[in-house]
Amino acid sequence: MDAPLVPQVTITPEGGGSSREMQQKDWDGAAEGTSEDDLLSDNESKSRGIITLEPLVDAGENKPWWKLKTIVQWPFSATQRRRLSWVQLAGHKGNFKAADEGSILKKFSENEVRCFEKLAGDALLPFVPAYHGVVEKDGESFLHMTDLLANFDLPNVMDCKMGVRTYLEEELVRARERPKPREDLYKKMMEVDSEGPTPQEHSLQGVTKPRYMQWRETMSSTHTLGFRIEGIKKFDGTCRTDFKKTRSKQDVIQVFSDFVGENRSIIKSYVSRLKEIREALSLSEFFKRHEVIGSSLLFIHDHTDMAQVWLIDFGKTTPLPEGQTLKHDVLWQEGNREDGYLWGLQNLIHTLESVSGEVEKLEQ
Ligand SMILES: Nc1ncnc2c1ncn2[C@@H]1O[C@H](COP(=O)(O)OP(=O)(O)O)[C@@H](O)[C@H]1O
Ligand SMILES: [Mg+2]
Repeated sequence: MDAPLVPQVTITPEGGGSSREMQQKDWDGAAEGTSEDDLLSDNESKSRGIITLEPLVDAGENKPWWKLKTIVQWPFSATQRRRLSWVQLAGHKGNFKAADEGSILKKFSENEVRCFEKLAGDALLPFVPAYHGVVEKDGESFLHMTDLLANFDLPNVMDCKMGVRTYLEEELVRARERPKPREDLYKKMMEVDSEGPTPQEHSLQGVTKPRYMQWRETMSSTHTLGFRIEGIKKFDGTCRTDFKKTRSKQDVIQVFSDFVGENRSIIKSYVSRLKEIREALSLSEFFKRHEVIGSSLLFIHDHTDMAQVWLIDFGKTTPLPEGQTLKHDVLWQEGNREDGYLWGLQNLIHTLESVSGEVEKLEQ
């Protein structure tokens, strides 16, 4: 197998400063994680692109059913109880519902709600979807938030999951308590790479969950670049989520180049938005005090050359103990909870700058 189990990658800070080594810890396949998100990759319930969002309420229903937990703009008017053609590049089908014009409902997670509440007074606020509170029906709760696609016409959308790992340290600790080889994960691994399993895993016909997750991250650019492409939907309706093996810098540049259609104005807008995000992250108290895992940057642009990037998905973003902070651009060693988010962001900026350089060459 070509994928190094202990990849070494170099961070080159902007401005040509000295490079720093980020070396991933060798997990030795011993741990077990619980990140279902990572295990869903081939599951039929995973959303991969264009879907129809159902309203939360039947149009015919007329008695009030909802219960407010926090202040929200509610109820939705009958005309707005609509079905909505929408783009969901990751997560379970059914996790999202249509809501009021320009907004959507995401399945409730206490963790995510807490993050949105804390983000209210934070430097990152301008870069996250506006949060309108929690709503509940029949015991099911949802987060009400802005639909980031609402102002676009036939948008191109890309989800990049940030960081050098996609599971929490606590998931790993829990997993170590009961590591058991699973046949389903062995099969998934074989589907992607028949040379993935070790001789022992071949003979057991089983792979543990953390081993699978760890292996999956070495297959993609999560380890090598600090982000990975989860999915892309283009203006013409075509969708791709087959980026499991997109790992090298050159492959990632190629995917980005195709996504932006070699349009320099869009590339420029994306780069400047990413730099604004980097600046906001450096000021953010929230960012300092959270392990940011499984969160994505959502890229959106359309034929009007409007291009935006947003921080989404705080389902696994976890507060650190009082007084502890993270740097987000140093080596992760188990126990330090570092996530490599800023390093991934820097690599994203470099990726887009490389695309820009190539487009420039083509135009000369
Ligand atoms: N506020 C939003 N506006 C537009 N699209 C969104 C928004 N939030 C999520 N999405 C879409 O839904 C997908 C899954 O969302 P995410 O919050 O990452 O859910 P999960 O926790 O299931 O991974 C994203 O890849 C993106 O395509
Ligand atoms: Mg997600």
